[in-house]
Amino acid sequence: MLEITNLRVRLPVEGQPRTVIHDVSFAIGAGEAFGLIGESGSGKSMTAKAVARLLPEGAACEGAIVFDDRPVLELGGEDLRRYRSHDVAMIFQDPRASINPVRTVGDFLTEAARTNLGMRRPAAEEKAVALLAEVGIADGGRRLRQYPHQLSGGLLQRVMIASALMGDPRLLLADEPTTALDVTTQSEVMAILGRLRAEHGVAMLFITHDLELAGAVCDRIGVMYAGSLVEQLPSTALHEDAVHPYTRGLLTSRPSVTETVRRLPVIPGKPLSAFEAPDGCAFAPRCPHAIDTCRDEEPALVDDVRCHRVGDI
Ligand SMILES: Nc1ncnc2c1ncn2[C@@H]1O[C@H](COP(=O)(O)OP(=O)(O)O)[C@@H](O)[C@H]1O
Ligand SMILES: [Mg+2]
Repeated sequence: MLEITNLRVRLPVEGQPRTVIHDVSFAIGAGEAFGLIGESGSGKSMTAKAVARLLPEGAACEGAIVFDDRPVLELGGEDLRRYRSHDVAMIFQDPRASINPVRTVGDFLTEAARTNLGMRRPAAEEKAVALLAEVGIADGGRRLRQYPHQLSGGLLQRVMIASALMGDPRLLLADEPTTALDVTTQSEVMAILGRLRAEHGVAMLFITHDLELAGAVCDRIGVMYAGSLVEQLPSTALHEDAVHPYTRGLLTSRPSVTETVRRLPVIPGKPLSAFEAPDGCAFAPRCPHAIDTCRDEEPALVDDVRCHRVGDI
């Protein structure tokens, strides 16, 4: 359904054009959940925004994004409007930052359906109330007349999910949808997303910095480092078959629930953006297995892994 090929995104950073996404390729099948993981700044949000055609002003894309045989990067006018209201929808990390505080929940939920899909207000409200019920908000009619500040963060994120579903999208781009929520609310929101997938057959690009969470809810995982996709694999193979030293590092830097660990092992060094990355493999400066080749030559993606040392380690 979605196929991204050699995506490259450049953005003006402090006046200079900088590459923030560097040669990213992956695909998502209908109804499939793909988890995109990586540390802060690795380019996860930019990848999702490129798919949703929501990149900031001045951004330039190369490569291809194809949704059902349509070239997403070339869509304009009516086709783009249709794509953004019917095919894909995005849920952001901080619900409060992406909702207008002076408009009611009802206005927020029904606005796109009324302006883009030509729905009348009563029909749009009826659909909104039904979707609110689906995300666990029983008193939808009352909620429509409330303002965002009257709702908790968890409730507001459910409203965001309901809003994303108003156009019956086939792909949900969920950008760290639970990061701003407390742990109990996090698992409730994850359960809702899981149920929606099962009942609506909607595909999902699930972005998180939590590898274990992605492994638990997604069919496949893509690991990003410094704007590149360094490894891709099925979730069921995550613990056994992950070979990239960065993925392995993420897997071992998780706190253990059963043991008392005095110090959490972390990957030494700091994460980089694509434009800060050195020549060769971007992960080489932090990699315990790096050799001269890693510092000199950029590794190609071979069998879904971008690492010179896969054969040796
Ligand atoms: N609006 C912006 N303008 C310029 N650069 C940006 C902007 N937003 C993010 N960046 C840069 O793009 C890179 C990727 O960011 P992002 O996709 O947000 O990372 P992630 O979601 O993985 O944390 C980072 O280096 C970040 O500093
Ligand atoms: Mg992000």
